[in-house]
Amino acid sequence: MIHIITGSTLGGAEYVGDHLSDLLVEKGLETTIHNQPNLAEIDNQGTWLIVTSTHGAGDYPDNIQPFIQALQATPPKMSEVKYAVIAIGDSSYDTFCAAGKHAYDLLENIGATPICDVFTIDVLAHSVPEDAAEAWFHDHIERL
Ligand SMILES: Cc1cc2nc3c(=O)[nH]c(=O)nc-3n(C[C@H](O)[C@H](O)[C@H](O)COP(=O)(O)O)c2cc1C
Repeated sequence: MIHIITGSTLGGAEYVGDHLSDLLVEKGLETTIHNQPNLAEIDNQGTWLIVTSTHGAGDYPDNIQPFIQALQATPPKMSEVKYAVIAIGDSSYDTFCAAGKHAYDLLENIGATPICDVFTIDVLAHSVPEDAAEAWFHDHIERL
C-alpha cells in the first residue's frame, strides 16, 4: 500500500498527488490518498509518499499541520515505513520548499527509510507540476 499524504492550500499539491496515484494504480499498485491526513488512520507500514507545498514563510499548509505535529509529538514506530517527499514551491522565496524539506528530515529522524532525496518542484520552472512529478515517478517506480 502506498499512502499519498498531501499538504496543499490552493490544490496544486493535491493534483500532483492524484496524478501520482493514477500512475501507481496503472502499474498495479494500491494507493490511498490522504488529503486531510490523520496520523491515527495511516498505517505505519509500506510506503508513504508525501506531496506538500510550502506557504506563509516556509510553513506547512494548514491541512497537513496537525499530521506533522502528531508525528513530532507521538512518533509511531517507523521501522517498516519507507518514504519519499515531493516538495512543491516557488524559488523566489528564501524558504524554497521548506515544508517538504522539513518533512523529509522529520521522517528520517523518527526512523523511516527514505527511498531517494527530497524531490523539489519549482513552480516558476514547471507551470504544470504534474509533468515534473511524472518524470520523477518514471525514475523511481522500481523503488516505490
Ligand atoms: C502566500 C504564499 C506564500 C508562499 N510561501 C512559499 C514559501 O515560503 N516557499 C516556497 O517554496 N513557496 C511558497 N509559496 C509558493 C507555493 O508553494 C506554490 O504556489 C505552490 O504551487 C502552492 O501549491 P498548493 O496549491 O498545493 O498550496 C507561497 C505561495 C503563496 C501564495
